[in-house]
Amino acid sequence: MGDRLNLTWLFLSLLGPFLRRILRTRLATIQQKWTYKALPNSKNVVVVGGSFAGLELVKGLAARLPSGFRVTYIEKNSHMNFSFNFPRFSVVSGYEHTAFIPYDGLAKGAPAGLVTRVQGRVVDITDTHVRLASGDEIDYEYLIIATGSSQPLPVQVTSTELVPAVKELQSVQRLVADNQKIAVIGAGAVGVELVTDIKSFFPEKDVTLVHSRSQVLNSFGKRLHDHCMQVMNNELKVRVLLNERPQLPREKALLKQQTLKFSDGREEIFDLVIACTGQRPNSALLASYLPDAISKETSRILVKPTLQISAAADTVISNPRIFAIGDVAEHGGARMARAAEMQSWVVLDNIIDMVHNRLPSATYKPLMGIEGSIKLTLGKSRVVLYSHNDGAEILLPATSRRVDLDIARGWAHYGANIKQAAVTAELVAKSNL
Ligand SMILES: Cc1cc2nc3c(=O)[nH]c(=O)nc-3n(C[C@H](O)[C@H](O)[C@H](O)COP(=O)(O)OP(=O)(O)OC[C@H]3O[C@@H](n4cnc5c(N)ncnc54)[C@H](O)[C@@H]3O)c2cc1C
Ligand SMILES: NC(=O)c1ccc[n+]([C@@H]2O[C@H](COP(=O)([O-])OP(=O)(O)OC[C@H]3O[C@@H](n4cnc5c(N)ncnc54)[C@H](OP(=O)(O)O)[C@@H]3O)[C@@H](O)[C@H]2O)c1
Repeated sequence: MGDRLNLTWLFLSLLGPFLRRILRTRLATIQQKWTYKALPNSKNVVVVGGSFAGLELVKGLAARLPSGFRVTYIEKNSHMNFSFNFPRFSVVSGYEHTAFIPYDGLAKGAPAGLVTRVQGRVVDITDTHVRLASGDEIDYEYLIIATGSSQPLPVQVTSTELVPAVKELQSVQRLVADNQKIAVIGAGAVGVELVTDIKSFFPEKDVTLVHSRSQVLNSFGKRLHDHCMQVMNNELKVRVLLNERPQLPREKALLKQQTLKFSDGREEIFDLVIACTGQRPNSALLASYLPDAISKETSRILVKPTLQISAAADTVISNPRIFAIGDVAEHGGARMARAAEMQSWVVLDNIIDMVHNRLPSATYKPLMGIEGSIKLTLGKSRVVLYSHNDGAEILLPATSRRVDLDIARGWAHYGANIKQAAVTAELVAKSNL
């Protein structure tokens, strides 16, 4: 009862600012229809990365940028990759086509000329332009880097186009279905969600989770470890090996017939090994323009509390017109979409200040209790809600009935209708790829 009350109280404390923000955006969107005029030579606000961080900012900019400014977002993928669901859809078949959301609905209803999407990969940045892999250049007045991080399958796909991307998830489903003895390496949230899914959808498989530390999900607290161990060991019969860091071939996350060597010298062969060993920040696009703004320790982009980028030893902001948000930025908050959304609000307010010739005044202060909370799936029908802050932990086990993890809500959030996913399914079925 105490945990339920504490969790409810925590979320209610954010509800006020959250609802105020939604209302403000809605009203601004209506006003924008009457007031915004697409002017020749409008200055460009460029957002690189069309995922959880970038898209939230694009929506805000579409609502609040005045005439004389426009927003261009540049994203390498043809569709928004709803990666929350990729591990589940790499195990269970029939839903994978729904994890790729069209971008068309994002700025539905925005005045003509205000929002433009460009599909492409940004490879370099100058004082005035971003350069794409195609060789094209796009000028910017303000630039926001929201390029996140890279992780191999089953967390991300490499294809940038819809049909091959769906087929990548299907290829993991086949590997999981066809192999009996499976090891997952790394017990972060991805590793734990993956083993519990494999074992609850395929109880007959022999599944091992190997983790480098004494605690699974070690960036969270002990209660979450204890709860997950109880579910994995006692209920789902996943074998968990802690304090083990077997060496893996670099850059390959799916390995067939792989031998793992453990700390006592013992070797064991697995039919399939899946590495879930963490993220690599996509900061290279800044490497030639501002190398000192990339952390030597984490490869993330260094930012001031205003989320303007900054060079390591610098108290002066390197280029005050460039911001970084989300998983690519060293912001001190959680690496969660929820945190990225909060950061997009800060940057939106700062850009609106700057286009009106005011100094940027909004600063990001991580709210770890909320932004660092997690809703973790533990197989087909279990979830656990967990939050920790300053040593205090809240944990609430719950049940889940939706195998598709309610993906329709993701579509609605980005202005799309899940019914359109049927078109994707048809394209995939017809494709000979
Ligand atoms: C399995 C899983 C489940 C999760 N569940 C949750 C959850 O329930 N709640 C939550 O809050 N968080 C969750 N997270 C964390 C969340 O997914 C991340 O914090 C979030 O994706 C960060 O968003 P981002 O926009 O910063 O980066 P990303 O999501 O990594 O997006 C970056 C985007 O930039 C694009 N890009 C990269 N480089 C370039 C370039 N050079 N040019 C053009 N485009 C480029 C990429 O294609 C991508 O679309 C989950 C993470 C995982 C792995
Ligand atoms: N439901 C959700 O909200 C949800 C779901 C999934 C992911 N996420 C978020 O997405 C992000 C990425 O998650 P993730 O699980 O991919 O990464 P992660 O949190 O970095 O976990 C990966 C783990 O693998 C361990 N590891 C690395 N190499 C290893 C080896 N050779 N042997 C054994 N263990 C090894 C790492 O430990 P070392 O530090 O010791 O190297 C690390 O703890 C996180 O921020 C996570 O919270 C959220």
